[in-house]
Amino acid sequence: MTHLLSISDLKYEELTQLLDMASELKEKRGMGADADLLKNMSLGMIFEKASTRTRVSFEVAMTELGGHALYLNTEDLQLGRSETICDTAQVLSRYIHAITARVYSHETVQELARCADIPVINALSDLEHPCQLLADLLTIREQKSILDGLRIAWIGDGNNVCNSLILASAIVGMELVVACPAGYEPNSYILAQARDLGCDVTITHDPTKAAEGADVLYTDVWVSMGDEEEEEKRLQDLAGFQINTGLLEHAKPDCIVLHCLPAHRGQEITGEVLDGPHSVVLDQAENRLHAQKALLLWMMGNER
Ligand code: CP
Ligand code: NVA
Repeated sequence: MTHLLSISDLKYEELTQLLDMASELKEKRGMGADADLLKNMSLGMIFEKASTRTRVSFEVAMTELGGHALYLNTEDLQLGRSETICDTAQVLSRYIHAITARVYSHETVQELARCADIPVINALSDLEHPCQLLADLLTIREQKSILDGLRIAWIGDGNNVCNSLILASAIVGMELVVACPAGYEPNSYILAQARDLGCDVTITHDPTKAAEGADVLYTDVWVSMGDEEEEEKRLQDLAGFQINTGLLEHAKPDCIVLHCLPAHRGQEITGEVLDGPHSVVLDQAENRLHAQKALLLWMMGNER
């Protein structure tokens, strides 16, 4: 049985196969060919945190594949009244066929995976957001035809999405430059893991240097879910790390701009860039659906 807790749980060949499957599912969406592939199968979606894209795209993916998705807010589960994670995982394994979980602590999703008899998918933790990266790679590949050798610049907080981008870059051979303020560097264990994989990752405190010659500029919120208490300090510390037209001028003329969304116009990115011609954020959001369909088929044992 396979879990997806980290994007690094996928080897290059598996990742490529999933992206190929996602492209095909996207092309054939609505034609009915996939309508029964997960018939009578159920996905439990545990959420400790808010979500728009992840929740809706997983739910629609299950519906379109002929299965069913259950939204399980931790507040409404006995988990929220101190039933253990392990008991929850074991009991859910008797009813459903896979679990997605969006959690504060990465250890929670690890514990679910340890105890469950069914696949567990990390739908975002404080450490990683692997499902986001599946959609991101699909989007980059659609726009640029290749992944290997592209230059990606991450501008802002070295957060969970950044951590998964680092590992994904290592797996597919993209050159990555992360520009963040001192104290906001990505997780050191992730950096070491990526370097072991041969990743060409550079950390800088200079956003202009990072953006120079970039094929892709990528950013995310300055205040992630769980960081709300640090909001004031974060807004000050990250103020120079915005994607705006000035920064875009340093990138390649055909540079694309990614943001996993939700976005805060005027903070990590200006409205002009987010809503401008370089931005592909809506394709990126749409691709969550196609990439996760491929993932669900792969994990729930119905590979085509
Ligand atoms: N990008 C992303 O995961 O969005 P949601 O928080 O809306 O799921
Ligand atoms: N880094 C953000 C991503 C939201 C999709 C967070 O964790 O809140």
